[in-house]
Amino acid sequence: MNDLHGWLYASECILPQAWAAKAVEDIVAKSVPRNASAGVTGALLFTGARFVQFLEGPGASVDTIRRGILADQRHDRIVTLQAGPRIERIFRQWSLAYAGPSLFVADRVDALLDAGLGDIAEMIMLLEEFVIEQAGKR
Ligand SMILES: Cc1cc2nc3c(=O)[nH]c(=O)nc-3n(C[C@H](O)[C@H](O)[C@H](O)COP(=O)(O)O)c2cc1C
Repeated sequence: MNDLHGWLYASECILPQAWAAKAVEDIVAKSVPRNASAGVTGALLFTGARFVQFLEGPGASVDTIRRGILADQRHDRIVTLQAGPRIERIFRQWSLAYAGPSLFVADRVDALLDAGLGDIAEMIMLLEEFVIEQAGKR
């Protein structure tokens, strides 16, 4: 596919802690079929406080989904870490890989984001690592 685009961003969850985990599960449940029908794949990481999400697919599809996400009141301080053309998909088999809140990744995500706009390659690797690790447990 030659029109492959990606979007990597970080944001802060503004849902009350008590039901954030459940609310994020609902978001993922709705996102999976929507991403699938748009030809979009990706992964979502939730630390309990922050989101890091990577989406990839046809430019127009990524754009539509991005607009919905940017307008979503359940998070704020959305920072784009990377956006643009990509050579190949990373999360080919995942409409939206997600594995629940993880305190383990929280420290690493915070460390990356606090070090300026983070090391993008490192952040994508962290997402991949997390997805692979979770997939292995199933
Ligand atoms: C952290 C986060 C990640 C999201 N990821 C996706 C996604 O990958 N795909 C999607 O279609 N919606 C996603 N959403 C939901 C959209 O922001 C929004 O709910 C949707 O575009 C519009 O939904 P509606 O049709 O229910 O108004 C996400 C929301 C949040 C807060």
